[in-house]
Amino acid sequence: MSLKQNLLRKKPIPILHGGEVRSSLKKQLGALDLIVLGVGSIVGTGIFVLTGVTAATHAGPGLILSFLLAGIICAFCALCYAEFASTVPVSGSAYTYSYSTFGEGFAWILGWDLVLEYGFASALVSSSWSGYVQSVLAGFGIHLPTAISSAFNPAEGTYVDVPAIFIALVVAWVISRGAKESTRLNTFMVYLKVGVILLFIGVGVFYVEPDNWTPFMPFGFGGVMTGAAIAFLAYIGFDVIATAAEEVKQPQKNLPIGILGSLAIVSVLYVAVTAVLTGLVPYDLLNVKDPVAFALLYIQQDWMSYFISLGAIAGLTTVLMGVMFGQSRLLYSLGRDGLLPKKMSSVHPKSKSPQFSTWVTGIGVALFSGLVPLGNLADLASIGTLFAFISVSLGIIVLRKTHPDLKRTFRVPFVPWLPLIAIISCVYLLTTLQRITWIGFIVWLVIGIIIYAAYGYRNSRLGKDEPSE
Ligand code: ALA
Repeated sequence: MSLKQNLLRKKPIPILHGGEVRSSLKKQLGALDLIVLGVGSIVGTGIFVLTGVTAATHAGPGLILSFLLAGIICAFCALCYAEFASTVPVSGSAYTYSYSTFGEGFAWILGWDLVLEYGFASALVSSSWSGYVQSVLAGFGIHLPTAISSAFNPAEGTYVDVPAIFIALVVAWVISRGAKESTRLNTFMVYLKVGVILLFIGVGVFYVEPDNWTPFMPFGFGGVMTGAAIAFLAYIGFDVIATAAEEVKQPQKNLPIGILGSLAIVSVLYVAVTAVLTGLVPYDLLNVKDPVAFALLYIQQDWMSYFISLGAIAGLTTVLMGVMFGQSRLLYSLGRDGLLPKKMSSVHPKSKSPQFSTWVTGIGVALFSGLVPLGNLADLASIGTLFAFISVSLGIIVLRKTHPDLKRTFRVPFVPWLPLIAIISCVYLLTTLQRITWIGFIVWLVIGIIIYAAYGYRNSRLGKDEPSE
């Protein structure tokens, strides 16, 4: 076969051939489990940490609009994810979808891109977790030695972020014990975090000073759009639901409910929180790391501010669980398809979960968040996500053309217009990202191409005509 034929080799869609998706992972997640996994994976750094700086320096009270816009764009992409998930319910999410639509070469690039997205998002969240925990400890007069309080930056006297390493390893351990076990602990923390957010909205609303909402867009509409690109990070996580496909009961029905349900809940919470936040505190005072807790101190509700911090720590933990879960399932799929070493897809006989890929994820995130100061690189999570969203939306248009009769329990309305709007919006947001982010992204892709040329191209199971299970 020629190089071109190899790069375009596509995985058949099992259902097309009347086949069942066979998997060694246990099917145990229902619709509610998925909504909890979704809300758990989404609500974290974006709302608890980034809202303050973004309101103060980019969007002002217009941040409400930024979150609304970002939510609408994500909803369009989520519809496309839901259609795919209802059609191709196998682990690996966007990566697997592209394997069936665009062929192996592109699927690998996308899989590699998702490793970047989930990796950076997890590292970012574990360092935010470390920050929140340290500020709560500081409230009790406990201070970590500076050297172990943050990632490697000798100029500031910091060398390693021990709390970030700690949480990444703990989360890996929890996930490695199996999907249902992880969702049980997750469920408790998700309810806690949603509870404190509702408390914030419920109490805060009585203290709102409408005057704080004027001027509504102090940095103009451009500022609101930059805010939307940043707010976008806050919505990352719903795609994690699709990575759990093989562990879901009745996936064709439950996946779309999980994806769209969690996104709907989160969007309402975000818009309400930003409205209350910017109504409580003049936007120019919000340039702090813990804006939600700060707003409560500002209105002298000190006791509640303490609860909010606890909720934020729980919230960041569940985001980490969701995103690291997604990363481990993605590595599992890449290993199973032969594009990464087979070991990645080994499944523990008792817990039926992919232990090796989970520990690779855990150790990777621990090292990365513990040692590397993330700074500008944090946007790499957004670039990776936007790229994946574009591919999934494009995939819907292609699949409707190539496989018009495929059974779809969930269909995106107004194809091709709705996916096209999603693509154009994501491309627009890509243009708002900085040069350094683009350079980092391109370097990452080049490394991926080298790995594929040296390993995946030769070892692909599809290339060797082996069935993937
Ligand atoms: N959406 C995730 C968060 O905001 C990444 O923490």
